[in-house]
Amino acid sequence: MKFGVLRDQPVFKLGILGPVRYLNKLFKSKRMAKYTLSVNGKSQSVDVLPDTPLLWVLRDELNLVGTKYGCGIAQCGACTVHLNDTPVRSCSLPVSSIGSKKVVTIEGLSENGDHPVQLAWDEADVPQCGYCQAGQIMTATALLKKNSKPSDKDIDTAMAGHICRCGTYKRIRQAIHIAAEKSK
Ligand code: FES
Ligand code: FES
Repeated sequence: MKFGVLRDQPVFKLGILGPVRYLNKLFKSKRMAKYTLSVNGKSQSVDVLPDTPLLWVLRDELNLVGTKYGCGIAQCGACTVHLNDTPVRSCSLPVSSIGSKKVVTIEGLSENGDHPVQLAWDEADVPQCGYCQAGQIMTATALLKKNSKPSDKDIDTAMAGHICRCGTYKRIRQAIHIAAEKSK
């Protein structure tokens, strides 16, 4: 076969690293798997690699972009969602480990942003740039579900590991107390 003909083959159209890219693509597509997840009360199916972090499934596959990427190594809390009511770091959770557990994201907390914790956040004027706030709210909500009247110490313990570059920690604590009062 002449080179001119070979050059027109799909594998060569991918550039000088064409064969490598082609094989990579081929192996990737072979490893893709279908997962059906319960997200915010709906059943959602996605076709992804088994080690894809839940965060990227939520953001890239399901367009639930309220959950944020901060560090990618479970150290900042920006990506926190609920898994069966427990706050988890979605950046470090492979989609293959979710199974039938229920995922709730900030979008699933309330339809109109009027969950008591969200209202308390507004009242205490917590968000500055806002980037970390979805994760903070998810952990605060889980805390209040378990402990309806948390002390400052309980709040600090539950919220430890959530990093806010804007330093909203004091207002977060205040907002959690407001939400606890409102939920009585
Ligand atoms: S992005 Fe997940 S903990 Fe920082
Ligand atoms: S509000 Fe800006 S990082 Fe927390």
